[in-house]
Amino acid sequence: MPFNKKSLKINGDRFVVMLSERRIKAKVKELARTISKDYKGTVPVFIGILNGSFIFFSDLIREVSIDCEIDFLKLSSYGDAKISSGNVRLLKDLNCQVEGRDIIIVEDIIDSGLSMEYIRDLILHQNPKSFRVVTLLYKKDAVKTQMKIDYIGFSIPKDFVIGYGLDYAQKLRHLKAIYRLKES
Ligand code: IMP
Ligand code: MG
Repeated sequence: MPFNKKSLKINGDRFVVMLSERRIKAKVKELARTISKDYKGTVPVFIGILNGSFIFFSDLIREVSIDCEIDFLKLSSYGDAKISSGNVRLLKDLNCQVEGRDIIIVEDIIDSGLSMEYIRDLILHQNPKSFRVVTLLYKKDAVKTQMKIDYIGFSIPKDFVIGYGLDYAQKLRHLKAIYRLKES
């Protein structure tokens, strides 16, 4: 698998680089700096949404300069399809106590926004002190909800994207850049 290529052909689908490793790194640093400033003097709990956010999550918290705790939630909505089903299921619940804590949800991508609404309801039921969301990618023309997203890395078109945690039928999460589907 040629990981440094500008373009990849997978099962007849062609993907081209949309965000380079360098651009992603710079953005992750910038997000971490802003969050560290906003949460100075507090100990927030970063909650990563598995599987997609695991790479962004680990890069982000290593750039954060304040004390923090971590936990993970696992959801399923897509199966192996390229479009959002909107049908969200909880596959792994939290282990931490949410009540009275500053919660920061870490997502790789917000598409329809339905998964994030589900997460918000799940967390707010447990009475956190505060609740915010950071997402690396935001598909601005695909979002179907009014929910406010506090920290957005990149607003991107509706195209299907892979790499840096995002999968194509569970594969290619380990690509260092983010690629978008050019043609099927
Ligand atoms: P939403 O509920 O439609 O916002 O979908 C959110 C989840 O779908 C994300 O956490 C991703 O796991 C997955 N997803 C959405 N768009 C893409 C994409 O373009 N490539 C890979 N996974 C995606
Ligand atoms: Mg995800």
